Amino acid sequence: MAGSTLIIEDLHVEIEGKEILKGVNLEIKGGEFHAIMGPNGTGKSTLSSAIMGHPKYIVTKGSITLDGKDVLEMEVDERARAGLFLAMQYPSEISGVTNAEFLRSSINSRREEGNEISLMKFIREMDKKMELLEMDPNMAQRYLNEGFSGGEKKRNEILQLMMIEPKIAILDEIDSGLDIDALKVVSKGINEMRSNDFGCLIITHYQRLLNYITPDYVHVMMQGRVVKSGGPELAARLESEGYDWIKHELGIEDETVGQEA
Ligand SMILES: Nc1ncnc2c1ncn2[C@@H]1O[C@H](COP(=O)(O)OP(=O)(O)OP(=O)(O)O)[C@@H](O)[C@H]1O
Ligand SMILES: [Mg+2]
Repeated sequence: MAGSTLIIEDLHVEIEGKEILKGVNLEIKGGEFHAIMGPNGTGKSTLSSAIMGHPKYIVTKGSITLDGKDVLEMEVDERARAGLFLAMQYPSEISGVTNAEFLRSSINSRREEGNEISLMKFIREMDKKMELLEMDPNMAQRYLNEGFSGGEKKRNEILQLMMIEPKIAILDEIDSGLDIDALKVVSKGINEMRSNDFGCLIITHYQRLLNYITPDYVHVMMQGRVVKSGGPELAARLESEGYDWIKHELGIEDETVGQEA
């Protein structure tokens, strides 16, 4: 099967009556790795929450489609079943549900009844992937994210990614708080996913991650829009020169989404 295509057109999103996204356009196809960079408070996490259907984020204009299907019409769980995955900037803790239980039910909820993954196969896959991510096997039996260190949470998000095998993934600051070794391991996990059936949107502040995961496209977000796109060389230039040159080029004074009501 060919890869999926996620198309975001002229997306406007409000939170509590305040417009945060002001016309985002983006197209992500299977086989492609996209990176979004941009200063703090420019709408990057808002974009990921809106794609996943967080109820606080109200789409007032524009569209999101996955292989031509209207994502905005789908409930959150339908979006996941359709093949979308979000690794959150701040993963939540769920007490009382073990990591393994959570993973298995996440996989099975995306499958048809009667076609659930067998326990043996699940354990085999999970062991293999935890080893690749250099995770302590005990992490499988701990409650989801409860008491996980920052780096353990991020590694665990990548474990979910590798087990669930979505069509399109959005990884929001998957590199924040990672030590250098963990950054390499997490990157290895993401690179392992590379195939024509998998497209990825990586939100990051640092070129460092992109040394390990080479993006096909790099986008810069300011004022709730994608204001510039390019290849990996754009990330390298941002690393050495910062964002001021883009602001100059585009005549932007305040890059944030603004404080007006
Ligand atoms: N739930 C919310 N309620 C109120 N304001 C919000 C909410 N979510 C986001 N915002 C506001 O929207 C703006 C954009 O936030 P967002 O989290 O999308 O930025 P970001 O680009 O991800 O920033 P960072 O790089 O710091 O993670 C900010 O001004 C933020 O305060
Ligand atoms: Mg953010």
